[in-house]
Amino acid sequence: MIFGGRQLIGLDIGSSSIKMIELKATGKTFKINRFGMAPLPPGLVEGGEVLDPGVLSGIISGLHKELGLRTKHVCSGMFGGAVIVKKISIPRIDPKLISEQIKWEAEQYIPFDLSEVNLDYHLLKSNQSSETMDILLVAAKQDFIIRYYEAIESAGLHCSIIDVNGFALANCFEMNYGARNGQTLALINIGSGVSNLVIVDNGEVVFCRDIPIGGNLYNMEIARELGVSQAEAEDLKIGSTRASESPPELSAVISATNEMICDEIRNSFDFYDSSNSGPEVGSIFLSGGSIHIPQLVEAIANGTQKDCQVLNPLQNVEYSAKEFSPDYMNQIAPFLAVSIGLAARKVGDS
Ligand SMILES: Nc1ncnc2c1ncn2[C@@H]1O[C@H](COP(=O)(O)OP(=O)(O)OP(=O)(O)O)[C@@H](O)[C@H]1O
Ligand SMILES: [Mg+2]
Repeated sequence: MIFGGRQLIGLDIGSSSIKMIELKATGKTFKINRFGMAPLPPGLVEGGEVLDPGVLSGIISGLHKELGLRTKHVCSGMFGGAVIVKKISIPRIDPKLISEQIKWEAEQYIPFDLSEVNLDYHLLKSNQSSETMDILLVAAKQDFIIRYYEAIESAGLHCSIIDVNGFALANCFEMNYGARNGQTLALINIGSGVSNLVIVDNGEVVFCRDIPIGGNLYNMEIARELGVSQAEAEDLKIGSTRASESPPELSAVISATNEMICDEIRNSFDFYDSSNSGPEVGSIFLSGGSIHIPQLVEAIANGTQKDCQVLNPLQNVEYSAKEFSPDYMNQIAPFLAVSIGLAARKVGDS
């Protein structure tokens, strides 16, 4: 959804923090101009829903000032229950007529009241001689969009594009690794409340689903099993990634939770396979703050029996080592994937 504007700041509104980034295009690559994160109080953004746009807006404008950004045009992304992405096939028609046609088609596929939804679509490169054409249908609830828009505009900024986090993740992948034609890859961004899963086939997104679990699940399980508060559980969890060895009871909860995350990912792959959205996934690239969890990447590789690696959002994105220490950038790289993908959008992309 595009509301106008030009140079864009990528604003990833996550469940536990916001990330704001400004990129500068340098020929074919990008360089980070400014970057910052600000934590959000629990319950402000839940499952992709902004519950208090007023409070969020104060945090957005505070970070924008702190970073000294002059650009006011923002590209942000929706995720979670607010947005549905579905690959559909329709009889081949003149592409100019698609936007009318999808209004009729959407009724069968979108479980929301269509009068309360914004519809968008992307025409996939399907076989020209086929009698049908493949379309990626995107439906976002209007009242959710309004709250993103309100939070950004009340911060004195302009909401130029509201994208979908999964698409931003795919954009970040392509910026760093190229289109990888001929391959089918899964990109999974494991955050705190939600994990974004995107399947890219031949350089195109063919499947996008947000799984409603992430790092918070570890906190809940640690709190329950070890009888501590959520805040203490978060400290124990973060501590376990830094220590060479953790108490056995903590390690046991973390590895059991790794398996739960893995089961959810496997369920989503089963759903993808059964919906015939595209060929079988070859390899997986992981990002998001929760991939710091010990043994999670290995657990996903074992559980899915697929080649699994960490997505480096800075593989092809430069930064000044004077302004950002390479150690710091390595630490925060997993948090950056979605915001980098958003910041690289140009008005006219969608
Ligand atoms: N060193 C670490 N070890 C383990 N987990 C960590 C570490 N650092 C951050 N996390 C976890 O990463 C999560 C935050 O990641 P991220 O910023 O990607 O999520 P988010 O964007 O705020 O949330 P979401 O995408 O789910 O809305 C939190 O659950 C946090 O506890
Ligand atoms: Mg996130």
